Order: sequence, then C-alpha cells, then structure tokens
Amino acid sequence: MSFDLVLFGGTGDLAWRKLMPALFQAFRHGKLPQGGRILAAAREDFSDATYRSWLRERFLDVEGARQPGGEEFARFAGLVHYLRVDLAQPGDYVQIRQWLDAPRDDGPADTVVLYLATSPHLFPQICEQLGKVELNGPNVRVVLEKPLGHDLESAQEINRAVRSVFSEGQAFRIDHYLGKSAVQNLMALRFGNALFEPLWRRESIANIQITLAEQLGVGTRGDFYDRTGALRDMIQNHALQLLTMIAMEPPSRNDAGAIRDEKLKVLHALKPFTEDSVLHDVIRGQYRGGTVDGRPVPGYRGETKVPPHSRTETFVALRTEVQNWRWSGVPFYLRTGKRLAAPEAQIVVNFHPAPHRIFPGANVPNKLVIKLQPEDGLELHLLAARGSGPSQALSPVCLDLDFDKAFAENRVGGYERLLLEAIAGRLNLFVRSDEQEQAWHWIEPVLRAWERDDDVSGGPRPYVAGTWGPAAASALVARDGFAWPEEQ
Ligand code: BG6
Repeated sequence: MSFDLVLFGGTGDLAWRKLMPALFQAFRHGKLPQGGRILAAAREDFSDATYRSWLRERFLDVEGARQPGGEEFARFAGLVHYLRVDLAQPGDYVQIRQWLDAPRDDGPADTVVLYLATSPHLFPQICEQLGKVELNGPNVRVVLEKPLGHDLESAQEINRAVRSVFSEGQAFRIDHYLGKSAVQNLMALRFGNALFEPLWRRESIANIQITLAEQLGVGTRGDFYDRTGALRDMIQNHALQLLTMIAMEPPSRNDAGAIRDEKLKVLHALKPFTEDSVLHDVIRGQYRGGTVDGRPVPGYRGETKVPPHSRTETFVALRTEVQNWRWSGVPFYLRTGKRLAAPEAQIVVNFHPAPHRIFPGANVPNKLVIKLQPEDGLELHLLAARGSGPSQALSPVCLDLDFDKAFAENRVGGYERLLLEAIAGRLNLFVRSDEQEQAWHWIEPVLRAWERDDDVSGGPRPYVAGTWGPAAASALVARDGFAWPEEQ
C-alpha cells in the first residue's frame, strides 16, 4: 500500500523530536509500507537536500549514542522531501496538491495522510484551504495534534472547522498515550483474558489510582505551559483516556466505533464537579525550587518565559467516580505533575482486603499495577506464606511481567505505532470528537472554579521540586482510608 504523508510544521519541535524519529524507526523495523513518500512542509527555505541534512543533524541529538547508521539513514532520507509553504497563502496549498498529483513511478498513492503538527490555532485555516484544493477525498486522512482547544468552546470550534471539510472517519486525533504499549496491553489484559473480568468491578476493587508523574520541569516551553497548566496538558486528555480504558465495558468488537462508544459512556458517567466539590476533590500545586535526582532545580516561577507571579498549576490530584453499576462508589484518583520525585506513569488497581483473616502476618490487599513508564509491564501483588510451623506468616510477593523481556517486538514507540495506524487507516487508537468534547465538558467546572478561587486562596499550593506534590494530595486519598503507592 503506497502512501504520501504531508507533515505541516515540518521544521517544528514535534516533527524533529518525535515524528521523524518515529517514522525512521518504523522504516528501520521494516514496518513503513513500501512506496511511501514524506513531504515536510514549513516556512523555512530548504531544499530536499538541505532539509535532509538538517534533519540528520537533529537526529544525532535525538538519538544520542544510537545515532543512525549512515547508509540506513540515507535510504530513509530518500523518502523525505521538502516544500516551502506559507500556510496563510492559498497558492501554497495548490503547490502541495501539485506535488501530490505529480506522476510517480508506482501511480498515485493509495493513501494521503495530512499531519497537522502546527499550532492548533492554524487548524481551521489549514482545513479550509485543504478543502478548497480538494485535498479531502476518501483516501485522505487528517491527523491532528494536541492541544485540541483550550476549553470546550475552542475545541468545538476546531471540530466544526475539521468537520466542514473532512468526515469524522477521516479525522485522527492524537493522544500519544494511546500509542503506548502498556495501553495495548491493558486492552489485552481486560478483553483477551477471562481471568480479571469477574473481578473488574466494585465488589472486588476498592479504588483505582492513575499517576502520570514527571521529573522534568517545563523546560523551554514556559510560555505555552503557563497558558495551559497540568489540568489541560495531562488530565483532560492522557489521564482521562487511561481512565476510560480502565473503566469501559467490554466492546462488542475490536473496532473503532465499538471501542469509542464504550469510552464515551465512561466520560458521560463521570461524576460532575460542582463549585464546592472542586475545592474539596481537586488539589492543584505549583513547584518551588528543590532537588531532583540530586541536582538543584529552580521553582516554576523562575523558569524561562514564566511570569514571576504565575498561578498556573504544575500538579493536579483529583478524586472522581464513574457513576454506573459496575463502579458505583469506587473512587478513581488521578494525579499528574512536573518535577515530582520519580518519572513514573502507572495505573494501580487496589483490590479489597481479604474479608476474614486466618493467617498471621501482613494483611496487605492485592493490587495490580499497570506500568506505562519508565518500563512497561504488569505487577500483581499477592500474599504468600513464608517460614514454616508456628512462625509461618504471610508476606507480600509480586508477580512481575516485563514486556520488554517477554516480547522483543514490543519496543514500538508510541508515535511510531500511531503513525502506522494512521497510514493504515485504523481509528481505534485515536480520539473521536465527542469523546474529546465530553472530556472538556467535564473539566470545565474545575477551570471556572479555580478562576473564581484564585483571589481567595492565592492559587495553587506550593510543593518542593523532587517530592510527590502538596501534602493535600495525600490527604485527598487518606480521607477515604487509602494511600498513594509510595505511601503504602
Ligand atoms: C505531553 C505534554 O502531551 O505529554 C507534556 O504536553 C508532557 O507536558 C508529555 O511532558 C509527557 O509525555 P510522555 O510520553 O513523556 O510521558
């Protein structure tokens, strides 16, 4: 299957840090379909040759010690072309169209993927122009990078603009967490095995905790981040997508419609926030200077391009519930933050303790840990007998499955997987507009309540970089008689 992939924003950070390396990896792994061409489109004045060498220099940075072998990179670079475009100029879209239409050895491409890796405020304009040059036929897919909107209204505006040119089936909204291997394995665990399904409900599960913790600060993205904050940057999309995967009913088929219908139902079932419950159930924090991995780091307000009195949150912990028969009364805790103690992304499913004890020793409830980062794997925490005779007691043990060891081919990166899925036209791992809008709808009361509360409370609670966030985040969970994994 031949394809043409046009990368709008071809010289941007995302293109050279994530997308081009992912395409190169797919090429190396022999997964990129034959007969593919990649067209980077951007404002800079490059030729094919100068863009390829520019890319090669950046790849050395990205790949570090694993720098691409010259010959392999040269073969990949042969697929990559460059077109100088000004996205405000209608004539430049005609040029893109002409480039795609120019006769090629193996005939017209079966699929055209238009990847919008530009600033999202340009999406409506780009879509309109693509429509005008009729780059929206049935073989065309448009891939949209986050942030898709700043709130419900702006998300709807982008979706309207996309829908006026492309059908929903042509729109591939990226949430790169859905490309992570652990998320695939979560689907396999739940819907490929019969073992957990009877337990996957309120009768067996006490609470579920999703942690997306980063050690990094905001780096060079201070201006973007300060307008965004952790709730919009990580909770509205990545954390909620993981929650839907954990809480959804088994879909009837492994297809995009069935999966996304079930995910949407979860989003509709989330307990709505009220002004009071935001103050009670959502904790926001902002890092101050501290030590991360033995290195002193500045506070958020001292980061480049961050205003000195910023009230943007770099940490969020919240408690919610999925209000349906399966999950009634089970707390779901979501937590994310920058400059936390460890770079850990994981979902912890905490089961109820044994109802009646006959053994001495620990009475630690079972838990299942789905690890997304830094390694991806599964841990099942159980109790086992230790010692013998009267001194025999229960001790915690862990069944530990490391997917990297189990499957060598598991090492497919998130973007690599998503790009290949978009080229193949499979929508299962992409977000539908109704899911995305419902997620905005759910977090909006939090944004509004914080705006109102800012002057009363002074904004987010401070926390020291290199810790697990403000103490109030522990209290949020302790209130229900539970604890975060590092406190257990
Ligand atoms: C992005 C956020 O969507 O995800 C970043 O904008 C964040 O702020 C990143 O650092 C985290 O992704 P990952 O894959 O490194 O956990």
